[in-house]
Amino acid sequence: MSHTIVIFGASGDLTTRKLIPALYRLWVKRRLPADTKVLGVSRTEFSHDAWRKSLSESTAKFAGKDFDEQEWQSFAKSVFYMQGDIGKSEDFQRLSDVLDEIEQGSEGTRVFYLSTTPRLYATAVANLGAAGLADESNGPRRIVIEKPFGYDAATARQLNDDLHQVFAENQVYRIDHYLGKETVQNLFVLRFANSIFEPIWNRQYVDHVQITVAEELAVGRRGDYYDTSGILRDMFQNHLLQLMMITAMEAPARMSADLIRDEKAKVLQSVRPITAEMVKQDTIRGQYEGYRQEKGVATDSQTATFAALKLHVDNWRWSNVPFYLRSGKALSCRTTQIVIQFREPPQPLFSDQSSQSPGANRLVIQVQPAEGIQLHFHTKVPDAGMNLRMTDLDFSFQREFSFALPDAYQRLLLDVLNGDASLFARSDEVELSWDIIDPVIEAWKNQTEPNLDIYPPALWGPAESMQWMEEQGREWFDVCPLIT
Ligand code: BG6
Repeated sequence: MSHTIVIFGASGDLTTRKLIPALYRLWVKRRLPADTKVLGVSRTEFSHDAWRKSLSESTAKFAGKDFDEQEWQSFAKSVFYMQGDIGKSEDFQRLSDVLDEIEQGSEGTRVFYLSTTPRLYATAVANLGAAGLADESNGPRRIVIEKPFGYDAATARQLNDDLHQVFAENQVYRIDHYLGKETVQNLFVLRFANSIFEPIWNRQYVDHVQITVAEELAVGRRGDYYDTSGILRDMFQNHLLQLMMITAMEAPARMSADLIRDEKAKVLQSVRPITAEMVKQDTIRGQYEGYRQEKGVATDSQTATFAALKLHVDNWRWSNVPFYLRSGKALSCRTTQIVIQFREPPQPLFSDQSSQSPGANRLVIQVQPAEGIQLHFHTKVPDAGMNLRMTDLDFSFQREFSFALPDAYQRLLLDVLNGDASLFARSDEVELSWDIIDPVIEAWKNQTEPNLDIYPPALWGPAESMQWMEEQGREWFDVCPLIT
């Protein structure tokens, strides 16, 4: 049985930076199914050899010390190229012939990876269908769609409809690269392979949850794209809501793609719809100083580069436990973390001590870059009366396993080849996420509250975000992790 991955957008950035290096590393680890072939398709003219040569240079750069010339040469024998235009249906007939030729008639799995501009997704899907390439009589046929999946709820639904004209839902793999991160998968393990966390993972013990994806970098060369997207479309509709779903979901009956995704979708179904009135109270928006001078950005841009949202998950487990989601560009440091903030003890027995340390217990899940988990608790300072201090139990992936965590795309590509969709977004998840985010985008467009706060780079976003938390008797956990 052969496996072939067809990458549309073969000369693009994602292909050279992520997809090919991930496939190459899987090859080096002998994890790729035997007889895996890669066929790049794009409009640029390349011979097979010219594409291999250009990939060898980019992979040497992106795979760094993992790059080995001999391994590359043997991997590159399975790499092919076809010049083709997604807009031309005749090129898909040719693609079908090229596939038959490189697979030499063997039956097997074909994966079509759309790593192109999202504008072309619907055309590519229709042309694949018309050329009979979605037909599964000779083996599984799968399609991988990169983000952004739609621009809003209506376009996401349209894209799902277009896909379903040609592919069944179980042939569709919608990428959210956060799900490929080891530490995100470890959330399932932390919650459902241990019995000590689940009993307290609810409204009786948890005061609130904070999910932060902070980035130190500004928009860089992506000003054009970013200015029409903004932080809510770029990060919240996908990555932050995915993190929230896994943090809040119930245990699935089994670890199977549909049962996991059923539980995730239920979380989104429980999120209280955000009205324009709620947007004033429950959201903060900001833009970093200097954003309007970035290349590709309008000089009077109102696009938010920072947002904080308070979401209410109205179900039995999380009633009255707010989920605070926050993300921004040009912040203090790069850190993605999930903080489970527990309630204060019922009686403050040590409150008359002068150096009583503030705050209740907290579990901090460091998704990146200092991957690990810390449990914060009070301890007695020795030989100092009953003075208390917050300390922590600290687990670090790096210390425990002493090897670098693999890039998300390795796991995701392998799962597509093996037909496991657990770590991919299902159509309902994507549509429900847009239904949550759309009203906020709409209200921000139409009303002045909340104000678009301009924040200086290298902090934790606008001061209003701290004040907003303070007004609710809470504070952000603003700590840049120590990378050991
Ligand atoms: C992408 C966004 O989806 O995720 C980028 O488009 C963002 O704006 C990136 O920088 C963050 O991913 P990571 O893996 O670096 O946290």
